[in-house]
Amino acid sequence: VAITGASNVTGFVPPIHQIAEWTHQAGALILVDCAQLAAHRPIDMGPHDDQGHLDFVCLSGHKIYAPYGTGALIGPGEFLQRYPPALQGGGTIEVVTTEEVYWADPPERNEAGSPNVVGAVALAASLQFIKNLEMGSVISHEQDLTRHILRRLMKIPQIQVFGSSDPDRLRDRLGVISFDVQGIHHAKIAAILGFEAGIGVRNGCFCAHPYLLHMMKVSKERYARFKQEALHHDRRNIPGLTRVSFGCYNTIEEIDYLIEWLERILQRNYSGEYFQERTTGAYYPQGYDPSILNDYLNFS
Ligand SMILES: Cc1ncc(COP(=O)(O)O)c(C=O)c1O
Repeated sequence: VAITGASNVTGFVPPIHQIAEWTHQAGALILVDCAQLAAHRPIDMGPHDDQGHLDFVCLSGHKIYAPYGTGALIGPGEFLQRYPPALQGGGTIEVVTTEEVYWADPPERNEAGSPNVVGAVALAASLQFIKNLEMGSVISHEQDLTRHILRRLMKIPQIQVFGSSDPDRLRDRLGVISFDVQGIHHAKIAAILGFEAGIGVRNGCFCAHPYLLHMMKVSKERYARFKQEALHHDRRNIPGLTRVSFGCYNTIEEIDYLIEWLERILQRNYSGEYFQERTTGAYYPQGYDPSILNDYLNFS
């Protein structure tokens, strides 16, 4: 059984240990994707003799303040020892000839290719940073931010939050808030926030297309239409939402600033003329020249 430890779309935190119990009662193993959970809640895999224990946990560095491209899979050594590696490459073998191969023991068996050493060191530094935080205060700070944004969003009739939007029911959710702004494309919202307000949000389907299409009640006909378009490199009509997600460094003032900008966008009170690129579906302000970024990259 593979489940998410926390949804990166709605922030929902499922009862993973309860699901683990049911999984073990059925004689199966459980893997929990903790990419969204790891920086926000403590993760206890539990002792092996407990029915609620987690067999496998995986996480990604870029969601816990480390750079892109490194992650971790934690699982029982004897399980990993039983199977050939999913990816084969440098470092995975003990002995190999043209006739036979003897795989190395885990973890080397499961780490094909030259490792991302810098990424691993950075991931370790991030984990150390998180370990040194007081998790109780990380959780209560995030809940304060989440309560505040939900209360403010509730007052804007053109905005619909997906997933739980109850500001007083925060126990089983993280500070991940996905919403639709009536009448304005999700990519346009993200572009205006990014280019004019300096606010980084994500938009689109968040690598969770089936979940999003289900929640947004996208009809079969609409799906068939945008699928054909996307397969012809036109991503302009792919449905999606805008997502705000909090790190431990965010503040109440930043939320007020975001709300102020969402209200400005709804009043068409922004300065750029935005056009939509066909192949990516992204919006850019007219006259935007990506080479201005060179000024930031010029360290000399
Ligand atoms: C719950 C969840 N799983 C998986 C991923 C993807 O991780 P990766 O890009 O390392 O495959 C993300 C976000 O990046 C996520 O939030």
